[in-house]
Amino acid sequence: MTQQIVLVTGASSGIGRSIAALLAANGYRVFGTSRHPAQPTLDGFEMVALDVTSDESVAACVAEVIGRAGRIDALVNNAGVELLGALEEISIEEAKTLFETNFFGVMRMTNAVLPEMRQLRNGVIINIGSLAGTVSAPFHGIYSASKFALEGYTEALWFEVAPFGVRVALVEPGFFKSEINRNKALPARSLPDYAAERTTMIAAWDRSVEEAADPAPVAAKVLHIVQGRARGLRHRLGRFGLMSRFKLVSPEGMLWVQVRRQFGLKP
Ligand SMILES: NC(=O)c1ccc[n+]([C@@H]2O[C@H](COP(=O)([O-])OP(=O)(O)OC[C@H]3O[C@@H](n4cnc5c(N)ncnc54)[C@H](OP(=O)(O)O)[C@@H]3O)[C@@H](O)[C@H]2O)c1
Repeated sequence: MTQQIVLVTGASSGIGRSIAALLAANGYRVFGTSRHPAQPTLDGFEMVALDVTSDESVAACVAEVIGRAGRIDALVNNAGVELLGALEEISIEEAKTLFETNFFGVMRMTNAVLPEMRQLRNGVIINIGSLAGTVSAPFHGIYSASKFALEGYTEALWFEVAPFGVRVALVEPGFFKSEINRNKALPARSLPDYAAERTTMIAAWDRSVEEAADPAPVAAKVLHIVQGRARGLRHRLGRFGLMSRFKLVSPEGMLWVQVRRQFGLKP
């Protein structure tokens, strides 16, 4: 069998690095990306430059991978950033900046690989969503909004491209250890009224990532999806994966108490 080619965005750290390393260890030719690749290879996969917020960078990255490997069989849209703060503190520009990576970055990459996948009647696109795309939390609203948007986008994509033999999956991790806290953005404006709850919430959120498990289960799930062993659109993972089901079956008042308690806020 010919070696399958996989492109994983945001593979310099965290979940993306874990996914790229596991796929490479399982015989795939993997290209991982970083805005500033420090070396040509990492953990057994090749690194290429990519900024998903730039049309030119996306076109150059996809052209480079196709130039070096001939085609792209699977795309893992993993690159993402966090923005923590009260919704009232966040400017439209700051929100747009986050959406440029978490939402439009996925759309750019998907549009760049689809023409060839459609033509070949073959391909897999895996979007890394989040538990935050199913349950929102205070001071995490814009990040959640970007992941909720990704839910709607990915569901429609799943319907649209299946007739062309392109499989689509959405992986929704709960908390996993990564560099996402260190890379997070905070709004320039801070309003004193929100200070106490914002500080408690951000500390609890950071702790949840730092104390979380290694992202190996996310990588294993992506491997199974690429191999065709995990079927279906949505794949929930992690300690708080049950929260989205709890939301569907519980009264809103219980969700309020559960989410606020989870992050150390007074119910
Ligand atoms: N960790 C969690 O608990 C968790 C839970 C649910 C979902 N997620 C999702 O998992 C994905 C990976 O996050 P992570 O937790 O592994 O965080 P991370 O360690 O900070 O990794 C983020 C990756 O995204 C890349 N990136 C950031 N901005 C980019 C841009 N404009 N263009 C291209 N690449 C960019 C970074 O690469 P460079 O900086 O090298 O360019 C880095 O490799 C994200 O979509 C995140 O929302 C994480």
